[in-house]
Amino acid sequence: MGKYIIEGQRKLRGEIDVQGSKNSALPILAATVLCKGVSVIHNCPRLLDIAATINILEHLGCKVKREGSTVIVDSTDITRYDIPENLMHEMRSSIIFLGAVLGRLGKANISTPGGCEIGLRPINLHLDAMEKFGVELEEGHGRLEFTAKNGLKAATITLSFPSVGATENIILAASTAVGTTVIINAAREPEISDLADFLNGCGARISGAGESTVVIEGVKSLSGTEHTVIPDRIAAATYMGAAAITQGSVTLRNIIPSHLGSVISVFEEMGCDISINGRNLTLVAPSRLQRVKTIRTMPYPGFPTDLQAPVMALTSVAKGTSVIIETIFENRFKHVGQLARLGAKIMVDGRTAVVEGVDRLTGAEVVSPDLRGGCALVLAGLSAKGTTVVDAINHIDRGYDGLEDVLSSMGANIKRVE
Ligand code: EPZ
Repeated sequence: MGKYIIEGQRKLRGEIDVQGSKNSALPILAATVLCKGVSVIHNCPRLLDIAATINILEHLGCKVKREGSTVIVDSTDITRYDIPENLMHEMRSSIIFLGAVLGRLGKANISTPGGCEIGLRPINLHLDAMEKFGVELEEGHGRLEFTAKNGLKAATITLSFPSVGATENIILAASTAVGTTVIINAAREPEISDLADFLNGCGARISGAGESTVVIEGVKSLSGTEHTVIPDRIAAATYMGAAAITQGSVTLRNIIPSHLGSVISVFEEMGCDISINGRNLTLVAPSRLQRVKTIRTMPYPGFPTDLQAPVMALTSVAKGTSVIIETIFENRFKHVGQLARLGAKIMVDGRTAVVEGVDRLTGAEVVSPDLRGGCALVLAGLSAKGTTVVDAINHIDRGYDGLEDVLSSMGANIKRVE
């Protein structure tokens, strides 16, 4: 397991290109299973989760090759409909293959994804939706066997919670189902719109993606297409955080500022000066961050749960006390104990964290509890006095393409040791 060695208290400055979105590339790569042909996906970040997804595609019979940040998938011949335990567990979000495999083959055999570091990750909304498509489910020995005897039938599906993954699985299953499917209370994340853009490029008929009601008119079959993945809004905000916590400045090139609405208002409340010029965003940090009265994580376009941990690191050195409420996942405060080892003063009660800003963090040895919690520890280490060692950074490699290279380009003293 690799670790980062960080010498803190260096002001970070720079201009960076933000990686392609992990949470857009994953469902789009899964969606290629629906297409009889070759798909060319540009701006695919180099991540462990992407590598795991490519392993699953190859297991199913796809031919996949990577040329720089472009991944080419030939899914003409899909030979299998099962995803083995080891591949399912390499990546939590492998459940996203369900809709695509069912849509292509009418059958799917997967293992229950199992919980992860941030919560149980139930899939009831996915299963209820598949049953509405006329899919039969048999459970046993940790495996789920899905069969659509007479093919997938369109349905009107109301989600009790705007689940990102469930919305994506329904869109995938509905794309080649017979009839018109309507999703009510769909997730509105930009990654949903990007998936729909990819599928429409393959010949699907999806409208309303990005809104709460999505309509998918099933088509007979899908071809491949060429598509460029949107920039990663969570990675973008992470680098904004690196500049903000070190009194520095950063220009992000080629992002989509409208994807960062609720995030920009939080950074401005902390005293950052943010200017937008087309697809570029420049942040200039204040000499001392101000507290944020209340942050409540919400489905898009609310404040994203994936930024709860990184922003908590920022509030831990802000002037004043901030309140952070995590409404999406039930176990997403595992970075609090590690931040406390660096000197942060945080009290947790259920889903609420009260962060009393301190003048200075001090370096220590800490362990990444999960992907975004690991990022929070890196940001805190950039600010802390002395040396911070962040262990178990394999979690971070799941979601960030060369984090240490980007931070080093901004002037950070960060080394990766295996
Ligand atoms: C996606 O996960 C993202 N992952 C997550 O990013 C992100 O945090 C999350 O959406 C919320 O924005 C990918 O896109 C690969 P959900 P997903 O279904 O689809 C409950 C990261 O760090 N729920 O919207 O799993 C669930 O337990 C990752 O990049 C059910 O109860 O999120 C959670 O409490 C972490 N039943 C809430 O809904 C279900 O059937 C949100 O889950 C499905 C979900």
